[in-house]
Amino acid sequence: MQPRHFISLLDLSSAELRSLILRAIQLKNHRDPDFQPMKGKVLAMIFEKSSTRTRISFEAGMAQFGGSALFLSPRDTQLGRGEPLEDSAKVISSMVDCIMLRTDKHETVTTFAQHSKVPVINGLTDLLHPCQLLADMQTYFEHRGDIAGKTVAWIGDGNNMCHSYINAARQFDFKLNIACPVDYRPQQSIVDAAGHRVAFFSTPEQAAQHADLVVTDVWASMGQEEEQKKREFVFKDFQVSAKTMAAAKADALFMHCLPAHRGEEVTAEVIDGPQSVIFPEAENRLHAQKALLEFLICR
Ligand code: CP
Ligand code: NVA
Repeated sequence: MQPRHFISLLDLSSAELRSLILRAIQLKNHRDPDFQPMKGKVLAMIFEKSSTRTRISFEAGMAQFGGSALFLSPRDTQLGRGEPLEDSAKVISSMVDCIMLRTDKHETVTTFAQHSKVPVINGLTDLLHPCQLLADMQTYFEHRGDIAGKTVAWIGDGNNMCHSYINAARQFDFKLNIACPVDYRPQQSIVDAAGHRVAFFSTPEQAAQHADLVVTDVWASMGQEEEQKKREFVFKDFQVSAKTMAAAKADALFMHCLPAHRGEEVTAEVIDGPQSVIFPEAENRLHAQKALLEFLICR
């Protein structure tokens, strides 16, 4: 049987994603220490970039399910010395039950998946961050119910998180209003594929009009540290502030994948305010990924 991979939200059907979110909520609310579907199973986690949430949630999730997780950094493996990805994928997948990768180049994950005998999970690339969207969708469902037909405002960089929000708009059937500097728009092919669900606005307040959820992310992602100063200037009018939240619906939620820079992409008042659900959102990485691991490994 060919393994199922989770490299993009588009790898699962809308129905599969929806039942995964419901399963994540169930796993969270009815934790059973005796439920150990991963007993004897191993997840290999390859991190070419830093992580707090992704590493801990996958590692804790596997442990809670009775399995184990290996943290592998290119610095300490032959990957860092240029062993071909194809060979590495064949070797690693012959010894473990699932592989998670966090890399800069998206092609690294797709190449790995092509040569892997076991499911491959995208733990973030420069293009996409689908695991974060599982947690974000779970958080919305828990606080406000189904997101279908709702309006989400994305403020800031057209980056990996923005791309995954566009894919989520397709899969979960919501409208995505994007406010970002013209030169930092998301990839046109990803926007085009979402059709009428995505619209662009010039200011955060315009994008946030009638929004049910307001989301942002850092102005400079991992690997763009040297652009920080330039980006602070370009993005200065694309901050989520109290003014932005006032344009949204009165019961709108605020989310951020974290880590956040208070005073840059979001004011402290908003991220630490009553509409912010950033900590349940972060915790849900654990529950959503447990549901994902169960879906991919226990088929
Ligand atoms: N949101 C997220 O992926 O966090 P980490 O970089 O800490 O894993
Ligand atoms: N856009 C950010 C997300 C971090 C979780 C980055 O790629 O660094």
